[in-house]
Amino acid sequence: MHTPTDPAVRPTAPRLDGPGAHGGPDASGGPGAHGGPDLRHHGDAEVGEGLVDLAVNVRAGTPPRWLKERIAATLDSLAAYPDGREARAAVARRHGLAPDRVLLTAGAAEAFVLLARTLRPRHAVVVHPQFTEPEAALRDAGHAVERVLLEPEDGFRLDPRAVPEHADLVVVGNPTNPTSVLHPAGAVAALARPGRTLVVDEAFMDAVPGEPESLADAVDRVPGLVVLRSLTKTWGLAGLRIGYVLAAPDVIAGLERSQPLWPVSAPALAAAAACCEPSALAEAEEAARRTAADREHLLGLLGGLPGVEVHGTPAASFVLVRTDGAARVRALLRERGFAVRRGDTFPGLGPDWLRLAVRDVPTCERFVQALSEVLTQTRRTSARPAGLPADRLTG
Ligand SMILES: Cc1ncc(COP(=O)(O)O)c(C=O)c1O
Repeated sequence: MHTPTDPAVRPTAPRLDGPGAHGGPDASGGPGAHGGPDLRHHGDAEVGEGLVDLAVNVRAGTPPRWLKERIAATLDSLAAYPDGREARAAVARRHGLAPDRVLLTAGAAEAFVLLARTLRPRHAVVVHPQFTEPEAALRDAGHAVERVLLEPEDGFRLDPRAVPEHADLVVVGNPTNPTSVLHPAGAVAALARPGRTLVVDEAFMDAVPGEPESLADAVDRVPGLVVLRSLTKTWGLAGLRIGYVLAAPDVIAGLERSQPLWPVSAPALAAAAACCEPSALAEAEEAARRTAADREHLLGLLGGLPGVEVHGTPAASFVLVRTDGAARVRALLRERGFAVRRGDTFPGLGPDWLRLAVRDVPTCERFVQALSEVLTQTRRTSARPAGLPADRLTG
């Protein structure tokens, strides 16, 4: 873990990207509305019929059959309004917290909106590159957002000193989408201050074996800490909408007051309770270990491709790569049957970045073979003398 005195961390010279550059409080997160990247672009826009999906980070082969059965078993009682008490207690037990520290939400996405509509930040800071919805929700709620940009040259590591002291709301992802970097819990907790809300998006934390850097159980110890979790990724429940917030009771109560009545359906509540059972936690842990092994295999293969760089140490179920002309590479990969996530819509990245979901070894091998061919093709094209058609150079 690095600390503010760690010599490996550069002196504080954060790239700040403030509201001046990206629109004021009324700027929305919609397509290019603030003159920056489209914060509302997500990987699901990139998948398509017949394409192998490396664009969306939901675990392949999910949800498991036992979970589908548990969800289906709720259908007979759909006439009743949902009662969230059991699921809330189950989530609380799973994290060693009291139930009044837990709020079930329609995915982490609902939590971003609740926070944006409930909090009254004067200086909101979002640490990028990261998932864009927190910033989009803040802007939609009328808040100006200042960006702190972590750098590829630093391995996208979080330096707590890069966050301005005046920030009274800080949002950071851990592990971070799209960089896949897992920040030390100590570095994240070092962002906490009296009078500051610290939102840690742990939507992918259950993809990390043992969750060593999670702050989920720390909401009673770290002032202003709000942890967001999601069941979407590990359990393949993107369509069900289930996640939760962990925070101090007054924060939870304030967010709950902003929710509509019955915001989480009975099938989603059943899934939340089921995924907290010991057997489910063991299954998630096993899946995380498999993903870690598959990721190392993928990284090994990518390491053999000239012109493909990985910055930082990936720890989640996806990796971020830099390669010249990534837009063309992405288009050619689609022609070969693979969908990958563009990186240029994440603040702090540019046109040369792609995010790849980790898949099983045979899929990764087929993908890297396709990527290798595409890179050879793009290099040939860019090396060809001006005016000479591409087909004259092939063969
Ligand atoms: C980092 C991160 N946080 C939160 C979410 C939203 O998750 P949910 O499906 O629980 O709303 C996503 C979805 O892509 C994500 O990537």
